[in-house]
Amino acid sequence: EKVVLAYSGGLDTSVILKWLSGQGFEVICYCANVGQQGEDYDAITKKAKDCGASKVYIEDLCEEFVTDFVFEAVKANAQYEGRYLLGTSLARPVIAKRQVEIAQKEGAKYVSHGATGKGNDQVRFEMCAQALDSKITTIAPWRDAEFLEKFKGRGDLLAYATEQGIPVSSTPKASYSIDENLYHTSYESGILEDPMTAPPPEMFKMTVDPLKAPDKVESLRIEFAKGIPVKVTNKTDGTVKEKPLELFCYLNEVAGRNGIGRIDIVENRFVGIKSRGIYETPAGTLLREVHLDLEGLCLDKEVVRIRDQLSEEFARLCYNGFWYAPEMELVKHAIDFSQRDVEGAVEVALYKGNMTVTGRESAKSLYSADLASMEIENGGSIDYEPADAQGFIRINSTRLKAYHSLRGCPASL
Ligand code: ARG
Ligand code: SIN
Repeated sequence: EKVVLAYSGGLDTSVILKWLSGQGFEVICYCANVGQQGEDYDAITKKAKDCGASKVYIEDLCEEFVTDFVFEAVKANAQYEGRYLLGTSLARPVIAKRQVEIAQKEGAKYVSHGATGKGNDQVRFEMCAQALDSKITTIAPWRDAEFLEKFKGRGDLLAYATEQGIPVSSTPKASYSIDENLYHTSYESGILEDPMTAPPPEMFKMTVDPLKAPDKVESLRIEFAKGIPVKVTNKTDGTVKEKPLELFCYLNEVAGRNGIGRIDIVENRFVGIKSRGIYETPAGTLLREVHLDLEGLCLDKEVVRIRDQLSEEFARLCYNGFWYAPEMELVKHAIDFSQRDVEGAVEVALYKGNMTVTGRESAKSLYSADLASMEIENGGSIDYEPADAQGFIRINSTRLKAYHSLRGCPASL
């Protein structure tokens, strides 16, 4: 039987590869390139082959990840529990989708991954695989009694690797777990499990420490169409980027060198466990800020209110692994509809971890300087009569008067 294993080239998935072969499987390795830095795909391919893989797929998913996943999150202003920008959560569905496609092409009935039995990733990988092809079965070694009996800790993995001739990298493993893609880098577990332990300063990969960022402001002009960024102009040095992937990577670079996008939080996993995570999401943090700003100009008040509710819904569904769920389709369509007229430009100044929006403009602006002005008495083309506000206030205060006549003023609690 064939199994398609999501393979990283690390110790865990190499042991899983050998273990699956030992169970009689023909193992096809699949390594997704979602923009993680410094990977040597030739070395990964060689290692997989050396460990007994019958075939190795290295799949470049970067473009698709940006346009079909990251930009969906940008349109939605997606943030889990008010802070986490969902970097890992967003990458899982694109990785799972290609894994299922490979399994179908290879006629494999099984897929496998190295996620633990305590986390979100197992849920995401498997919910996506189930949704996309219900005939495929997932093998999760980290939930397999026999596997767990054999591998109780890192020592057992290392001993097995030596015994099986799996090359073990000489650089010692980082004292925390890293998950990387072009949207974010996440760090958790190991020494970071104590929520009071500050991260080592040299840990970060995408952002500089704001204190060490240049003592100089860098200004960007970011243009949007239908809620997604379509052009970035660096007003400080003249650089222009327009292609989605290039534009996004460029924003990572600029936001990163200005120390933007780090967070350190305790979050709630879908399985009910609290977990401490540190994230750096430079471009994502910047885009969320400027996209929200442009929406301020282009979106109707009540549309914003409902879109805010959908943002939260989007984030929760994405975090919990429901990317390919009917309710997610509904949410995404509604958000797309809200973004029809979110177009225009925002200018933003970056400085030592701060983003300051300095201006915004749009051909679809709902903002009227005449209407808002304190100087001009009436609203130009729109019939706004300040005298009407008197009745508006009186009617709105009706229930406040009723309440306080009952409870006293100030109300006795
Ligand atoms: N806690 C984050 C999430 O659930 C990040 C998970 C990181 N995953 C990993 N395999 N290191 O989305
Ligand atoms: C894991 O458990 O494999 C990583 C953490 C998570 O999925 O939440």
